[in-house]
Amino acid sequence: ACPGPLIVVSNRQPYRHEYDDADAEDDTERSVTVDEPTGGLTAGLDPVCKRTDGTWIAWGDGSADFDVTDDRNCVSVPPDSEGYTLHRLDLSEAAVDSYYRGFSNRVLWPICHGFSDLLEDRPTDFEWYRTVNERFASAVADHATDDSVVWIQDYHFALAPRLVRDSIPPSATVAQFWHIPWPAPETFRDCPAGVDVLEGVLGNDLLGFHVDRYVENFLECVQRYVPNATVDRDQRLVRYEGEPTTVVATPMGVDAASFDRRARAADRRNPSALLTDAVSEETVVGLGVDRLDYTKGIPERLAALERFFERNPDWCGEFTFVQKATPSRTEIPTYERYGEFVRNEVERINGRFESGDWKPIVYTEEYVEPDDLCALYRQADVMIVSPIIDGMNLVAQEYLAASVDCDGALLLSDRTGAYERLGSHALGIDPTDTDAFARRIAESLSMPRHERRRRMNTLRHRVFENDIGSWMDSQFDWIQSIHEGSSSEA
Ligand code: G6P
Repeated sequence: ACPGPLIVVSNRQPYRHEYDDADAEDDTERSVTVDEPTGGLTAGLDPVCKRTDGTWIAWGDGSADFDVTDDRNCVSVPPDSEGYTLHRLDLSEAAVDSYYRGFSNRVLWPICHGFSDLLEDRPTDFEWYRTVNERFASAVADHATDDSVVWIQDYHFALAPRLVRDSIPPSATVAQFWHIPWPAPETFRDCPAGVDVLEGVLGNDLLGFHVDRYVENFLECVQRYVPNATVDRDQRLVRYEGEPTTVVATPMGVDAASFDRRARAADRRNPSALLTDAVSEETVVGLGVDRLDYTKGIPERLAALERFFERNPDWCGEFTFVQKATPSRTEIPTYERYGEFVRNEVERINGRFESGDWKPIVYTEEYVEPDDLCALYRQADVMIVSPIIDGMNLVAQEYLAASVDCDGALLLSDRTGAYERLGSHALGIDPTDTDAFARRIAESLSMPRHERRRRMNTLRHRVFENDIGSWMDSQFDWIQSIHEGSSSEA
């Protein structure tokens, strides 16, 4: 359990207040809706925040966000219940452009994923990133008490941990979970302000990654680029300016029970609207669900599907691949171009193979309700998750949790954290080897039922064993032991 009042820091907020009617004359005529969280992180942390009388600090990006907060920019969430405090930061357009669309997503995202060629180091981005990290840190200081547990999420806050550490009571704990990969030193070397990033992160008492490899990479980077730090590789402990940072691998899971429940509630014979129009009851269905991000390997997947239909013409008319893509970070030209490329490829491949009512690929960027998503997962005979690299990949785990009939197959890139966790019971793929990838698709479709069931049972077991609850427990166990260590020193 969390040993003190929890203060969560994240870029995205757990609840967003939006005005409904954009055309209304003035704000008093407009009604406000609260976007409920869909992410597993909020679902997992909400109860802990409530229980510990906690605080969540995040960027307020909803149109009505600051019309419902008090004069400190705080509001109680979830709405209509005894909740916890959400403290919103009001960031200017310039701040968002440089901190979020700049240093976070034009520098750290590509560097951490090994896409150094996409790095864009614009002049004022890092200074804004620092300013925004300072603002979050000072918001933390406003709420922190002697036994607070500050838990910072992700790469938007590499500098905040040190700033927080220096401004809250020494008995409080500072922890961070880095949700994306940490690259090898040869890649990290290209990171502008890389030493500031490392020194900032070393302000944490506890630093978590999904898998061992990222822990190893991080420790190597510290050893190489922060000469004043001492690194104990065996204990996974860094000492910098007298302060220890414990580095751990604690892979994140999903709320498996909830995906299972929703999938069971979905009617098999009457699946999501997306499928009703696109496929008949006999059609074999493949599925991909991704943000439109260059790390996700969507063009590589489309190329493999094209090769598959070339080599296996019998499957034309019988197998349909449904790709649900969510536009992401579209103000960044690289993302815009990626989306454009994906849409064109889908059109080209469909043009090449479609006949009558049948299309090889059904593509949508529409929002899909969580219940419908679970119906889709349940319906899919094969799920394809093919990132070029991915810190973990929660979609793969969601699919497994929702596969309540145990008759689907998962094709999973061996360059994801999820593959390292789930192992070879998933059908491993190298997303860039088009021929082998296409063969894997064929193999998954012709796999005997008992074989699918055997693999799926094992995979589902792993996903339920390592769900979001057990991930949080392991974080809080670590935090607890560090907390106890520091209070016995005091
Ligand atoms: C990744 C990051 C998250 C981020 C999400 C969506 O999973 O680790 O921190 O929230 O992508 O991206 P966005 O830029 O829309 O928040």
